[in-house]
Amino acid sequence: MAKLPEEFIQQLRDANDIVELFRSYADVKKRGRTYVCCCPFHSEKTPSCTIYPESQSFYCFGCGVGGDAINFVRKMDNVGYIDAVQILAQRVGLQMPARSPEEQRTSDLRRRCLEMNREAANFYYLQLVKGRDKRGLAYFSQRKLSPATIRKYGLGFAPDEWHLLRDHLRSKGYYEDEMVTAGLCRRSEKGAVYDYFRNRVMFPIVDLRGSVIAFGGRVLDDSKPKYLNTNDTPVFNKGRNLFSLNFAKNAASTTFLLAEGYMDVISINQAGFENVVATLGTAITPEQARLIAQYAKEVVISYDSDGAGQAATQRALGHFADVGLPTRILKMEGAKDPDEFIKKFGPERFRMLIEHADDATLFQLTKCKNGLDVDTEIGKTEYLRRAVKVLAEISNPLQREVYISKISHDTGVRAETLQLQVDGAVRSKKRSAERMQFRAIEAQSLQRDEINPEAQKYPKESKAELEILAYLIQHPEDYEMIWELIPPEHFKTEFHRRVYMTICQKCHDMGNFSISLLGEEFTPDEISRIIGITAKFHDSDINRDTLQDCAKLLQDAQNRIIPSAEMSDDDLRRLLNDKKQKK
Ligand code: GTP
Ligand code: MN
Repeated sequence: MAKLPEEFIQQLRDANDIVELFRSYADVKKRGRTYVCCCPFHSEKTPSCTIYPESQSFYCFGCGVGGDAINFVRKMDNVGYIDAVQILAQRVGLQMPARSPEEQRTSDLRRRCLEMNREAANFYYLQLVKGRDKRGLAYFSQRKLSPATIRKYGLGFAPDEWHLLRDHLRSKGYYEDEMVTAGLCRRSEKGAVYDYFRNRVMFPIVDLRGSVIAFGGRVLDDSKPKYLNTNDTPVFNKGRNLFSLNFAKNAASTTFLLAEGYMDVISINQAGFENVVATLGTAITPEQARLIAQYAKEVVISYDSDGAGQAATQRALGHFADVGLPTRILKMEGAKDPDEFIKKFGPERFRMLIEHADDATLFQLTKCKNGLDVDTEIGKTEYLRRAVKVLAEISNPLQREVYISKISHDTGVRAETLQLQVDGAVRSKKRSAERMQFRAIEAQSLQRDEINPEAQKYPKESKAELEILAYLIQHPEDYEMIWELIPPEHFKTEFHRRVYMTICQKCHDMGNFSISLLGEEFTPDEISRIIGITAKFHDSDINRDTLQDCAKLLQDAQNRIIPSAEMSDDDLRRLLNDKKQKK
């Protein structure tokens, strides 16, 4: 792999301030010399992600992800090293230096996928509004979509033919392999390439940069499958994107509506609510919940009123609770979904529905009554037992009290009695959470360390190596002295040795060192680990005495290597020779 010039990486790093980069994803707060925020890589309510402006790096003490700006983009956008560099270069208007043919190919492929998608979206749109086959247009007009809405969403139509799009893209200079990679075409067993979407109305999926990254296509009748979605491609991951987020993110309201399907979103949007999104043919993922939490202060789940919709609501509630996003649930009567509701009762009634949507707790409490006759003693007792469990989930005691007095009012049970029960449930929940956490930590320590598997075998040496590396990263100007003091062979663990040698090499070649210079030689997870080393020693300066102690510990460990039964005669001879030379 041809390397990017290190001067360029430095330049890129200087131009992309890591704190600014984080600001577009998280609520960043200053804390002394560093910044903290809730980690954008895992769900949490209290910030454990630290950003270090001095070294232009970050580290999450919760999930162990860390790195520089490049690693951030690699992890965030799930792209390779070169693509991450390209995204950052684009962000600040830096010209990319020339690259190897292979790297050029992967980023060209991404670019061409996006171009093909754009081309296909135009093609489907023109087929819809100008094509001979008017069934697509008739379908949308039957579903009461206005021409303006069709334009806004760039809706389209894929006629009932096998090669229309393929031939069109061919005429634009694209290759069949590329069309298959982009998910627009498929290859049959015999090797013929044909259009993936046929005889369907088309919904382009647009990302936050305004690029068309995928499509959903719906049949015009009741045949199956009702919807076909683009599978994952180099530019699309269905669990990380949301339909209509490109519009919702600019909405005036910070309450988001989460609908179940494309048609609901479009219909709600057409009724005047810009703040609506949907997942892309799958249940909501934790990542999507996090994405919504980035833009919204509150979410109203507006799923179908049928059983499947209610089960999905329950699951979504869990994900939103995990990211700490206040959630309410729309209760629709007289219609199976928002689309039908708006058509039957109009936008104004829908607005009222949103305003009166119960919060998640009330929704859960109502569900507690399912299958019970609360007018009987038995029914009431069971209801209260379930309700206490729901209330124990609320973290705010004041909020708990509000619901307690409501239930007390509804059931005639004294609030003090309920309070005692809930307090008990909260305590036992806390205890079991602590137990779980303890067990998780225990399990983690038993788990194989994938990045540095030898660390567990040599805990003392590994710890000394860590301190040496931390010292080296803190004092790159001392690298020559350190190199003299500690030859790389003294490192017991291969991973630490590789880090040590790479850093010293960079110091030697460049006269300085920063984490950004490691990007091409280490995986994102390895970089996270390296950042972890510096993060753990951030507030404690390692002094030279400590360094000397660590060097000695490694030296002693070397001398302690005693010939074992498994050693061959050659090994033994070499070992003795080594020792002789050292004396
Ligand atoms: P209409 O039936 O046109 O009103 O569509 P809808 O958008 O209201 O869809 P529905 O409530 O039936 O389903 C919700 C979402 O689930 C859809 O928007 C699709 O994303 C997805 N979905 C529904 N049916 C299928 C299917 O057969 N295959 C796949 N992959 N996804 C589907
Ligand atoms: Mn529907």
